[in-house]
Amino acid sequence: MVKSYQLFINGEWVNTDDQLDVLNKYTQETYARVAKASEKEVDQAVEAAQHAFKTNPMAPYQRFEILKKVSELLLENKEELAKNITMEAGKPLKQAQTEIDRASQTFELAAEEAKRIHGEGVPVEAAPGSENRMAFTIKVPVGVVGAISPFNFPVNLVAHKIAPAIAAGNAVVLKPASKTPISALKLAELFEKAGLPKGYLNVVVGSGSTVGNQMMKDSRINMYTFTGSAEVGLKLKQETGLNKLILELGNNSPVIIDKEADIDAAAQNAAAKSYAFAGQVCISVQRLYVHEDIREEFQQKFINAIKELHVGDPNDPETDVGPMISEDEAKRAEEWIEEAKKAGANVVYGGEREGALLRPTILTDVNEDMKVVCEEIFAPVVNLIPFKDIKECIDEVNRSQYGLQGGIFTQNIDTAFYAARNVEVGGLMINDSSQYRVDLMPYGGVKGSGWGKEGPKYTIEDMTEERLIVMNLNQ
Ligand code: SIN
Repeated sequence: MVKSYQLFINGEWVNTDDQLDVLNKYTQETYARVAKASEKEVDQAVEAAQHAFKTNPMAPYQRFEILKKVSELLLENKEELAKNITMEAGKPLKQAQTEIDRASQTFELAAEEAKRIHGEGVPVEAAPGSENRMAFTIKVPVGVVGAISPFNFPVNLVAHKIAPAIAAGNAVVLKPASKTPISALKLAELFEKAGLPKGYLNVVVGSGSTVGNQMMKDSRINMYTFTGSAEVGLKLKQETGLNKLILELGNNSPVIIDKEADIDAAAQNAAAKSYAFAGQVCISVQRLYVHEDIREEFQQKFINAIKELHVGDPNDPETDVGPMISEDEAKRAEEWIEEAKKAGANVVYGGEREGALLRPTILTDVNEDMKVVCEEIFAPVVNLIPFKDIKECIDEVNRSQYGLQGGIFTQNIDTAFYAARNVEVGGLMINDSSQYRVDLMPYGGVKGSGWGKEGPKYTIEDMTEERLIVMNLNQ
């Protein structure tokens, strides 16, 4: 039976005339219907958030208790929530289960951080003429946070926006990805159970061109947090002027396999981290730079490791690589591969597509101008690029417009530290691939990958303002 879902506005479940079909991404059948927000509902959501923030402030201990409860409820409902991710996103079940564990941690971390948001003393008397004054800073919430989340982690990337916002005392208007909105509505149910005061979380579902655009133009929203394409991120920046902004955009993640690498470990790691969730992770390995001396050996071991991956039905607990988010996206990736082939690239493994399922693919003989290399492919496609000299390789890595995370495999400490200092990314993994993330760490990019950090402690910095208080004791 096709289940219906409603919007969550001001603590109420709200229906609308317009409905959005959510597909089971493996069968492509309609899995659920969700109420679609119009201008009216977006306006109500922002109004409710602003009203809650202005009239009903929550003390840090209350925020802690609510976030902690959500963290627990996530684990209590893990199986159902994970199955929902698998249905609406096509994410393999075991990866969906991991996502729920991670989201539970994200909420727990945010709960803990809610208790330690504080300013500091400022020694103003150190300035001549400022005698007999006392000063300190306090951290105040920004107000209403507009959050726009992507399809690829429909629970945990929503968590990374809502949890720190609530921990800091803000109210939220969330627009989840329209291909995967149900997870966000289920999270709203958990917040309701956890006792979040009404208006603090509002979930409005709809397209970027309607709901997203309206949110961008609403001056009652004090800050935005967005994960998605560089194109939309840039538009958000242009539209929202002087508003605070966290942008988590694309990447074409580089991983370097140096000649002094542990080749077996690197090959196993790269296979697992290139194709998880069909490569639709912002830090999936896309550009694999392999030293010429070990290229053949690495390529063979990489292919052997890929052969071990289970490809197919995401509901099967064994599956590692399932469908992409839509057949159109799989076709788009296939077109990029075809374009690269015409320009001289070779498919040495995979390349076949059945509907939305694109098999793990390796390309060789690519160049920097091919879309498969210079754009974010967001598909299970990896380029093997040989190099001779590590410094030249890092120069080539840095010619990318992006810089989210990267990796290097080497047993040579000098090479590792040269890379640490010179690879232009928000995070560099040594003896691991670009796709390493735990939820407490600072996560965010440089260059076209955006700015601001996720990780509750770091996001709270952006979601609060530092206010200076100076007391003149001379009067
Ligand atoms: C992302 O795609 O940016 C999120 C990656 C992750 O949380 O593992």
